[in-house]
Amino acid sequence: MKNISVIGSGTMGNGIAHVFAQFDYQVNLIDINQVALDKALATITKNLDRQVAKETLTEGQKATALQNIATFTSIKEGVANADLVVEAATENIDLKLSIFKELDQFAPTNAILASNTSSISITKIAAATERGNQVIGMHFMNPVPVMKLVEVIRGYQTSDETTSTIMSLAKSLEKVPVEVNDYPGFVANRILMPMINEAIYTLYEGVAGVYEIDTVMKLGMAHPMGPLQLADFIGLDVCLAILKVLHDGFGNPKYAPCPLLVNMVTAGYKGAKSGEGFYKYTAGSKALSVSEKFSR
Ligand SMILES: NC(=O)c1ccc[n+]([C@@H]2O[C@H](COP(=O)([O-])OP(=O)(O)OC[C@H]3O[C@@H](n4cnc5c(N)ncnc54)[C@H](O)[C@@H]3O)[C@@H](O)[C@H]2O)c1
Repeated sequence: MKNISVIGSGTMGNGIAHVFAQFDYQVNLIDINQVALDKALATITKNLDRQVAKETLTEGQKATALQNIATFTSIKEGVANADLVVEAATENIDLKLSIFKELDQFAPTNAILASNTSSISITKIAAATERGNQVIGMHFMNPVPVMKLVEVIRGYQTSDETTSTIMSLAKSLEKVPVEVNDYPGFVANRILMPMINEAIYTLYEGVAGVYEIDTVMKLGMAHPMGPLQLADFIGLDVCLAILKVLHDGFGNPKYAPCPLLVNMVTAGYKGAKSGEGFYKYTAGSKALSVSEKFSR
């Protein structure tokens, strides 16, 4: 495997491109317009600079990594020589199904098609192609250059050969791949999202305030950040969408999203990216304070 095409150059796509390029794969990074691609290249450069400053990378390695990335605004051209395509476009089922139809048409017949989806069924995505045995989930974590885990998700038709190729490939990026089967939420979000939802219920029912809930989980369970702050960083709209996938997929009321979460998303409070969720985020700084709505 040498040629990797990455679809989508947002938060995850630029991180995935960065890591493959750093480990000397040839990367074709694809997005819908050049503005998004230029922004991604600027982010990758900044993150490589940070590695150089920390002396985990040399200036020469940084230059090579950047040379390994080419940008495209056409899927057809960007995947023409791909050994592997990693799709990291916006989390929308219709969009992903149409991208995979296109990939099936334009990527070489032996190419593996992977999705970085957080919650959409790999089996469903694979069914949009004629090569279900070569479709797999490759769920990187944010920020990709830093986080070690890759959740490797086997769809119903994914072959052993495809799985073992992707497991080895992830190891070549110095990641730790973990193989799981394709059921709603896979493993990461099936466990994380109910914990976040329960933290929101704990707030909603008045058991404790934001500060108290996050402090219990940080200092009591040694979590690096509390579940409400984590929800703000993931995006409250994203958390709600994943909970809906779990709720619909299992039909079990234990996954029902907390009405407070639904209200906040409806009112436009999406967490850090919108400036306010359970915390308020001051523009231009990382300072956060508990929103007065939720302080005790
Ligand atoms: N953000 C996270 O923490 C995280 C973690 C794990 C997995 N994911 C998953 O990764 C994927 C991407 O998420 P993100 O946070 O990077 O989103 P993002 O919004 O930052 O980036 C998505 C990018 O996809 C591009 N795009 C949309 N349609 C496209 C098309 N037809 N062709 C090419 N590019 C297209 C957009 O222009 C945008 O640049 C989603 O499936 C998400 O569920 C996200």
